[in-house]
Amino acid sequence: MTNCYSRVLGTGSYLPPLHFTNQVLAERLSREGIETSDEWIVARTGIHARYFAAPEQKTSDLALIAAQRAIAAADVDFQTIELIIVATSTPDFVFPSTACLLQDKLGIRNSGAAFDMQAVCAGFSYALTVADGLIRSGTYHNALVIGAETFSRLLDFKDRTTCVLFGDGAGAVVLSASDQPGLLASALHADGSYAHILCTPGNVNGGVIQGSAFLHMDGPAVFKLAVSVLEKVALEVLAKADMSVDQIDWLIPHQANIRIMQGTCRKLGFPLERMIVTVDQHGNTSAASIPLALDIAVRDKRIRPGDQILIEGVGGGFTWGAAIIRM
Ligand code: UT7
Repeated sequence: MTNCYSRVLGTGSYLPPLHFTNQVLAERLSREGIETSDEWIVARTGIHARYFAAPEQKTSDLALIAAQRAIAAADVDFQTIELIIVATSTPDFVFPSTACLLQDKLGIRNSGAAFDMQAVCAGFSYALTVADGLIRSGTYHNALVIGAETFSRLLDFKDRTTCVLFGDGAGAVVLSASDQPGLLASALHADGSYAHILCTPGNVNGGVIQGSAFLHMDGPAVFKLAVSVLEKVALEVLAKADMSVDQIDWLIPHQANIRIMQGTCRKLGFPLERMIVTVDQHGNTSAASIPLALDIAVRDKRIRPGDQILIEGVGGGFTWGAAIIRM
């Protein structure tokens, strides 16, 4: 057998325990003098609730449970995982990488590479594409590709324009070498000149944080750019795969805002009912959102073996990317 492709063998996800409906969040913010409402959040974003990690949980802990579920679904021996990529912008530490910490928590010994992918909300598309390349080149056979985030730790709960949007979570896939094509095409892009519209512009220097450790966003600017690049990159990846939009069974956009998601879906002429929507349940979980939505739809049996899925992500950097996956 010649293994010149990569395929998704199993998916898994995890949402942490602290569940905040819009109502509960609005009450918490109101005690600090910040006014928002369930009506505003639902109308502008489609978000109804989000989950936050417990104080003792780190990103690698969320990633661990998602990874264990994906490994069980793939039915592979975890010691055969040679490559671990964790897409995250909320790592446990400055270093070592969350992927190395996860490798240890999984009990994987003598593995190949483990590293983090920092492409914010486009991180899963980036990580999947890199893992696919390393599998196709014959470097590794079994990979864990994960999106895991604790964005709640970056939120300024005095800034109502951002703190109502994000949540924590993790999603994972086992990607393995195959003689059947699984990842049919992908496309990645970045434009650093937009860094300022979505950023956490802080760093550690001399033992103190310099700049800001809170997430900053120009929401309307991000919104406009996101709708434009998501349509372009979706068309680009369809052309690369030599496919038309009617050959796609499911669209899984980055779960950021229902208005961005529906806008892109309509621009592509794709039926809204074939778009996987989970943003209402968990808000924007950044790099975790696509694998979370994928796993939820695999487990509720909407997505079936052989289905062709278009994923697309966009986030800080600015970064964006898309891929077509045959399950
Ligand atoms: O992964 C990528 C990450 N980012 C995104 O996807 C975000 C992209 N952007 C968005 O989703 C939208 O721009 C937002 C949801 C952030 C905001 O929606 P918008 O329709 O662009 O609203 P806006 O920023 O233009 O604000 C409209 C009004 C403002 O009040 P005034 O100036 O009209 O009086 C805001 O102050 O809504 C106000 N506002 C709020 N009101 C109640 C902003 N946040 C809130 C809030 N509750 N949480």
